[in-house]
Amino acid sequence: MKVLVTGGAGFIGSNFVHRTLRTRPEAEVTVLDALTYAGSTSSLEGVLDRIRFVEGDVADAAAVDPLVADADVVVHFAAESHNDNSLADPSPFVRTNLVGTFTLLEAARRHDVRYHHISTDEVYGDLDLDDPTRFTEDTPYAPSSPYSATKAGSDHLVRAWVRSFGLRATLSNCSNNYGPRQHVEKFIPRQITNVLVGQRAKLYGDGRNVRDWIHVDDHNDALWAILDRGRIGHTYLIGADGEVDNREVVRMVLELMGRDPDDYDHVTDRAGHDRRYAIDAGRLRQELGWTPRYGAFRDGLAATIDWYRSHEAWWRPVKEATEAKYARTQQVLTR
Ligand code: NAD
Ligand code: DAU
Repeated sequence: MKVLVTGGAGFIGSNFVHRTLRTRPEAEVTVLDALTYAGSTSSLEGVLDRIRFVEGDVADAAAVDPLVADADVVVHFAAESHNDNSLADPSPFVRTNLVGTFTLLEAARRHDVRYHHISTDEVYGDLDLDDPTRFTEDTPYAPSSPYSATKAGSDHLVRAWVRSFGLRATLSNCSNNYGPRQHVEKFIPRQITNVLVGQRAKLYGDGRNVRDWIHVDDHNDALWAILDRGRIGHTYLIGADGEVDNREVVRMVLELMGRDPDDYDHVTDRAGHDRRYAIDAGRLRQELGWTPRYGAFRDGLAATIDWYRSHEAWWRPVKEATEAKYARTQQVLTR
């Protein structure tokens, strides 16, 4: 099977490539990635000689067309993915997440290629902390940020291409991923690497916001279940019942790293900060027989900390610039 992976030099995409080559040795993988600030070929170290790597933009129709024409399936990860960046400058989000998806859909339609669209639970907006419900495939769309609004728009494009043009597509909306090779701008790697460079952990607002954590390998195994057995036109929510509030995550990171669990700063909150995400992955479990393999979040977090400890060369070059960017908008409120 020839698999075209867009965004394969980013966090989830690179883990997908590593896992695919381990579990599906017969797959022929091509990665299309623009190598933005969030992508690096160092995330593909060890497998670069087993794949075809193409540096290019998913919104560039001339670059995309021959790659899609040559593929059996397109797995579309490429995106601008960070909420904070979308608040500072939404324009690359519109271009990559909307125009990029449109460009791929048109190529997949032209060449009748199977397409899988990677999306996020953030398209459903947020839940109250005391709301007993969780997101399902039937929850109405209500995105809050420019990032989630562009992801929501891209999901709608995919569904329209299925219905109007018969595109053979599936979609998935996953909760917050953690694991190796995640950019240090994101919550968990930021706190781990802050501790490693001798800075304090940084918590937005009151720290009571809840995210539903899933290990990146569990996400990628679910994607293969959908690619193998998913029903065309269907959406699958991916989550592993991993709700934890941010304060608890920071305290766990500090404790696992041998620090005082109260040794963190409260910093300026994110504008429009979603309160809680929670996924009901019943359809994925019942229809496709997927179950998460990673157990306790705390154990996965400990393994992730070990990865950052032993891969300083991977994250160190971008750490200082990432923190300098944050320092322009975030102030320490209380210690
Ligand atoms: P990431 O920011 O780590 O990686 C994105 C990758 O896309 C990078 O390699 C970047 O270079 C590439 N890219 C960006 N713009 C591009 C363009 N115009 N053309 C080609 N390549 C481009 O993101 P991630 O966290 O790995 O997320 C991957 C996908 O999964 C995204 O679609 C995101 O919305 C979705 N998602 C992420 C999470 C999460 O917790 N990280 C959860 C659910 C869904
Ligand atoms: O839910 C899926 C989404 O998860 C994906 O679609 C996004 O691509 C991915 O980035 C992630 O979005 P979040 O905004 O939830 O992730 P982030 O890592 O930016 O923040 C997680 C939580 O931690 C959020 O409540 C904000 C908070 N936070 C974040 C940072 C960077 C802090 O408290 N301190 C921080 O330093």
